[in-house]
Amino acid sequence: NQHTDCRHYLSLLDLSRDEARALIARATELKRMQAAGQVFRPFVGRTLAMIFEKASTRTRVSFEAGMVQLGGHALFLSPRDTQLGRGEPIADSARVISRMVDAVMIRTFKQETVEVFAAHSRVPVINGLTDRCHPCQILADLQTFHEHRGDIQGKRVAWIGDGNNMCNSFLEAAQLFDFELRVACPEGFEPDADLLAACGGRCTILRDPREAAAGAHLIATDVWASMGQEEELERRRTAFAAYQVTDAIMDQASPDALFMHCLPAHRGEEVAASVIDGPRSVVWDEAENRLHIQKALLEFLIPH
Ligand code: CP
Ligand code: NVA
Repeated sequence: NQHTDCRHYLSLLDLSRDEARALIARATELKRMQAAGQVFRPFVGRTLAMIFEKASTRTRVSFEAGMVQLGGHALFLSPRDTQLGRGEPIADSARVISRMVDAVMIRTFKQETVEVFAAHSRVPVINGLTDRCHPCQILADLQTFHEHRGDIQGKRVAWIGDGNNMCNSFLEAAQLFDFELRVACPEGFEPDADLLAACGGRCTILRDPREAAAGAHLIATDVWASMGQEEELERRRTAFAAYQVTDAIMDQASPDALFMHCLPAHRGEEVAASVIDGPRSVVWDEAENRLHIQKALLEFLIPH
């Protein structure tokens, strides 16, 4: 890293446990301030550049609204109408953009892209989702769990479905916050092997979603085909047919179990409508908390 004094947020494990806990506490405080109509504008005149190589609703709206609430501005950049889409090297884009703005958020395919960008950036870089992980969403999910149920340490979390970027972020969270993670996925759809090895036996891979859900305090899932996997959808629908989070699956869990989904969701595929729209679902809180936790993250990363 050419700018070693600058912190980036490329995966959850870029934070220490204490830093992550402090961010969650701060997000809850910023949420309270926002609800009370308190004006808090530490970032007047500051800009966040947001590069989206994939679609987004929540990430774009939460970062843009959050930056405005903090007194700053957010800039939406897509490869369709920037030189990024015409082959300007990532390193060059990083050098240029980071001389003009105060932080950069990137949503892209390869983790390597955010790493290369960060290595050549003068300002903090935030991973807004890659094929490897979704570190902003996991922070919002941890905040949401904390608000509803308190400390997640020592709890049991079940991930049902694809061992994708969100699942990988749950693996990192299990390591950082010391909870048990049970992943139920079909063969060939496991989460990242290196993360699995690093999480110190806290994660078990199972094939039976009921077994994974047994006694869980939180059940989470995500789409069967992530962005970039659209052409695999039919094959995946077959592979994941037994992995829908239904009321029967929820009934295996602890009576106070929460249901989470990062959204967007497909009712009748990875989750039954009765579950996502039911009393144990906290999906709208998860979505809202993207705003608050990312404001806390911007405040943590951007010097002011
Ligand atoms: N959960 C999430 O990141 O949503 P978007 O794709 O809408 O940003
Ligand atoms: N796993 C999904 C999450 C979307 C927010 C994807 O990568 O498309």
